[in-house]
Amino acid sequence: MPSLLVTGANRGLGLAFVRSYLADGWTVHACCRHPEKARALQELGDAVQRHRLDVADGLQIESLARSLGDEPIDLLVNNAGLGGKAGGLEDSDFDQWQKLLAVNTLGPARMAAAFWPAVAASERRTIANISTQLASIADNRSGGLYAYRSSKAALNMVSRNMAIELADKGVKVVALHPGWVQTDMGGANAKLTPDQSVSALRKVIDGLTPEQSGGFYGWQGDELPW
Ligand SMILES: NC(=O)c1ccc[n+]([C@@H]2O[C@H](COP(=O)([O-])OP(=O)(O)OC[C@H]3O[C@@H](n4cnc5c(N)ncnc54)[C@H](OP(=O)(O)O)[C@@H]3O)[C@@H](O)[C@H]2O)c1
Repeated sequence: MPSLLVTGANRGLGLAFVRSYLADGWTVHACCRHPEKARALQELGDAVQRHRLDVADGLQIESLARSLGDEPIDLLVNNAGLGGKAGGLEDSDFDQWQKLLAVNTLGPARMAAAFWPAVAASERRTIANISTQLASIADNRSGGLYAYRSSKAALNMVSRNMAIELADKGVKVVALHPGWVQTDMGGANAKLTPDQSVSALRKVIDGLTPEQSGGFYGWQGDELPW
């Protein structure tokens, strides 16, 4: 059976990824900061392998990579993310901005650096970085959200770079916008449930061709402007 490694798996979109791939019989490695408090993951039982992982902690990432050893990972979903506060430059909290860069940009980069050999050793060889339409520079007409937008725009560049670097290993890498989703980050007024978003994203991920690697796509598979 194929295997999934997903970060931020205790709630929101991460948990929906876990449930969706588990239902199809995949081996699921669900990572979260506090597995002992992750009730929803615990309720899924031993079918899910739970791992403690803060994506801003390079040592934890290396230790997880060592503990999984040579096990191939078909799909790495870099989902864990921090949202940002609205506001202009004057309202910026630069310490918080650095945290967003550590989690939203460096987190996926550290994960890919540690796990690409396991992904390359698998059959499906895919890395999906969960980005956002708000990362699009071309689409930015409203401004604000400096920290969130810039951390995810940088993630988009990292995704394209990874796609180029890993192409000869057969690894596909994409940046994906999940839509506006009803999670703690998206809020109750969002348009999509996590299950709707993940089921659409799965169609995009599962159907990716090598030619699509390096792209930035919406939840319905539409190519987004950088
Ligand atoms: N919801 C939307 O409308 C929307 C739209 C565009 C993009 N996205 C992106 O989709 C992804 C998932 O977001 P969501 O909507 O599911 O948000 P969410 O409900 O707020 O969940 C965020 C997840 O990220 C985890 N996380 C935060 N910092 C972490 C760290 N340092 N290490 C490991 N995990 C960490 C959280 O864990 P804790 O429980 O431990 O905090 C939680 O599991 C994010 O990358 C987000 O930017 C969401």
